[in-house]
Amino acid sequence: MKKRILFVCLGNICRSPMAEAVMRHQVKLAQLSEQIEVDSAGTGDWHVGHPPHEGTRSQLDEHQISYEGMQARLVLSSDFDAFDYIVCMDTNNLRDVRSLLSEEQGGHQKLFTFMELLPDQGIADVPDPYYDGNFTFVYELVENGCKELLKRVQADMSLS
Ligand code: 4NP
Repeated sequence: MKKRILFVCLGNICRSPMAEAVMRHQVKLAQLSEQIEVDSAGTGDWHVGHPPHEGTRSQLDEHQISYEGMQARLVLSSDFDAFDYIVCMDTNNLRDVRSLLSEEQGGHQKLFTFMELLPDQGIADVPDPYYDGNFTFVYELVENGCKELLKRVQADMSLS
């Protein structure tokens, strides 16, 4: 069965679109594009319809990863049913997504933070490069976290 992954951040122009593009790239390299779909969304609406931030685009360009056609959108409560993994880039995003959902949905294991994929890093949030400009560090985290997520999804696929 097809698996669907949604990354969520605040503006949907820096961190979650980077994760979307990197994850889709890794899925393609693993020849799983028919089985795994990837999307991203934001909890804030300031940048709806905008392409990824210049800092995110420059990291993706450097690694020759496509972001063609990507546009920011708002996260919707209906995303809960449409996706199998809802990965929030920080704990505020997780709280904001939970506020859109019922108590039962908000506690579901499909909803978790990106840094739960990288427990050895010892940080709870992917730092927001919109404020500190550190897109290089975010790229490193995103690349490593997406590798872990792909392993988890592949393991789940082998069970289902
Ligand atoms: P993101 O970063 O959540 O990683 O996309 C931000 C982008 C825009 C804003 C805040 C964070 N903003 O306030 O416009």
